Amino acid sequence: MDDVTDTVFRRIVADCAAPDMYFTEFVNVDGLQSEGRPRLLKKLRFTEGEQPLIAQIWGKNPDNFYKTAQQIADGTFARELGLPEGVNFAGVDLNMGCPEKTAVKHGTCSALMNDRPLAAQVIDATLKGLDGRLPLSVKTRVGFNEVDMTWIEFLLEKKLNMLSIHGRTKKQMSAVPNNWELIGQARELRDKLAPDTLIVGNGDVLTRQQGLELAQQYKLDGIMIGRGIFHDPFLFAEQSPWQDFTAQQRVDLYKKHVQLFADTWQNRERAVHTLNRFCKVYIQSFDGAKELRERLMAANSTDELLSILNEPLG
Ligand SMILES: Cc1cc2nc3c(=O)[nH]c(=O)nc-3n(C[C@H](O)[C@H](O)[C@H](O)COP(=O)(O)O)c2cc1C
Repeated sequence: MDDVTDTVFRRIVADCAAPDMYFTEFVNVDGLQSEGRPRLLKKLRFTEGEQPLIAQIWGKNPDNFYKTAQQIADGTFARELGLPEGVNFAGVDLNMGCPEKTAVKHGTCSALMNDRPLAAQVIDATLKGLDGRLPLSVKTRVGFNEVDMTWIEFLLEKKLNMLSIHGRTKKQMSAVPNNWELIGQARELRDKLAPDTLIVGNGDVLTRQQGLELAQQYKLDGIMIGRGIFHDPFLFAEQSPWQDFTAQQRVDLYKKHVQLFADTWQNRERAVHTLNRFCKVYIQSFDGAKELRERLMAANSTDELLSILNEPLG
């Protein structure tokens, strides 16, 4: 999730209870292949503790998808990020689902559903860049304005390694319940058209158990969870201890997050206010949480945040 699942949060989650696989925030290939590259590299940053990690990319120009895929596969990005020899991304994911206005206006992400020739060029260019060295997946929705399973068929014909499907159209944004029946239909299409493509379902999953049940019910290969992590940082644990966490344990976990953020983004590559989203995750469900949150969310630096978090709880 953009501005959420950076290397800092992924490390926090990894320490709480690791998922089987991580994804980066989406990174624009046209920006990566321009003078803006150093500014965007932060979105690809990771450590050895957050693996396997899939690099998610988006953009417009197939040639930039080709170059980016090539540089991910041959380890160019891993070297630029200062990772040790042999540590690399585990795969590449193409974002063909984001409904965000600007992305759609530029004909990217979910808008690719309306431009299949360009979608095909993007996939083919990425496959050419990867040259069999890393697997390729696509993350998408079940249609643009209307449900359109021919889009899913089109993607399955590309023989991807994995296809992650969010069970809403672009038009539906997040306004209606996620449609798991359609994800199940996509899995049936997969059985016929591309038996080797893994199908991952996504949308509104709040617990590990719920995800496992949905995977079983619809015979899916995996479940992708986004916002559920905001309700429980231990979401991926078999038995989450989060409900029983004391106020002090919650404060300590946020303190760990803020400290890691301060250590990682030393040159203010990320605005301190991006932490506010996490404040709501940790600082809740105890007496005085609301007042503490208000003070924390008004803070303007990590030093200020840490100093408030170090105060004894009232
Ligand atoms: C703040 C935010 C940022 C997101 N950024 C991305 C992104 O960069 N790439 C992506 O594929 N999906 C992104 N998504 C969509 C989620 O991955 C997911 O598909 C969606 O939230 C529905 O799943 P969920 O109910 O498990 O959250 C984002 C969602 C949110 C709320």
